[in-house]
Amino acid sequence: MKCRVCRGPAIIDVRRHNANFCVEHFIEQCERQVTKAIDAFSMIAPGERVLVAVSGGKDSLALWDLLHRLGHHAEGLYLGLGIGEYSDESGVYARDFAAARGLVLHEVDLRRDYGYDVPRAAAATRRVPCSACGLSKRHLFDEVARQGNFDVVATGHNLDDEAAVLFGNVLRWQTEYLARQMPVLPAGNGFPRKVKPLVRLSEREMAAYCIVTGIDYQVEECPMAAGNSHLGYKEALNSIEERSPGTKHDFYFGFLDRAAEAFREGLAQDAAALSSCRDCGAPTPSDRCAFCRLVERSGGRLPEHDGHDPATATGTPVILGRRERP
Ligand code: AMP
Ligand code: FES
Ligand code: ZN
Ligand code: ZN
Repeated sequence: MKCRVCRGPAIIDVRRHNANFCVEHFIEQCERQVTKAIDAFSMIAPGERVLVAVSGGKDSLALWDLLHRLGHHAEGLYLGLGIGEYSDESGVYARDFAAARGLVLHEVDLRRDYGYDVPRAAAATRRVPCSACGLSKRHLFDEVARQGNFDVVATGHNLDDEAAVLFGNVLRWQTEYLARQMPVLPAGNGFPRKVKPLVRLSEREMAAYCIVTGIDYQVEECPMAAGNSHLGYKEALNSIEERSPGTKHDFYFGFLDRAAEAFREGLAQDAAALSSCRDCGAPTPSDRCAFCRLVERSGGRLPEHDGHDPATATGTPVILGRRERP
């Protein structure tokens, strides 16, 4: 197996591109794919401040590493979700990564800062844990981005993730979700821009990237997600991809090119109807946001704030290696 670029010994085959790469040219290939995604979807403009949501897993740590290599100003945000040992461990990976590279990591801990955790929220809402977890993540990514004056929030969703979510949404024709399933959601109505710069790279490539660049990541998956339908969709797509390499890419990018536009109208209507949450000030379609309602139902508490700037309400992010900006 020879590297497509230098003909030296290859360490990975990327069947979807019908190409093999050595270490050096595989890293270059990952950088190129991220740059291509950023440029094609205008994800990050030069000089913008990026908040990378890092879980301690391979995708988000690889993303932080790649953005840093590509010269973007990228600080990390880790959320302690309180999912037993899984969360304790994931925080260690995120902190060690930041400390070893002198990067800034912000932290919010659901239990310390809001008096609840994901298992408690799941029990209180009687829904699957991922739903309370996802709601908390989305709210806190936005909140910390506002607080820290970040232009954009980047997450480590890769091609496998996006194709599986698209597959699930298409199977049930969830048109309102299809309208939002873009690698970029523009800023607006108090929300920062959201971007997914890894959409051109697969899960396997991200694991390989971490191995060849020496990134130590949490291999274990979230125990609360075990057996959920998202994992089933991933398995189904994996078996199709195995027989026809490139199917995931064509499915996802074909949707973006030829179908996504048709679902967009709903988005504009949603945005027009937003007001401010009476407790935390976050943009919401009702008078209290879903996050504040979740915290209350879970027996937690909102941090005290001065009543003017909702951003000061979140737990103070912990900064490693540098002082927080004023
Ligand atoms: P998941 O929802 O677990 O598939 O994760 C998707 C993306 O959300 C990851 O790639 C991260 O960017 C972000 N993320 C997940 N868990 C956390 C966490 N505990 N703290 C910060 N970001 C996270
Ligand atoms: Fe959110 Fe597992 S990480 S439920
Ligand atoms: Zn090579
Ligand atoms: Zn609120």
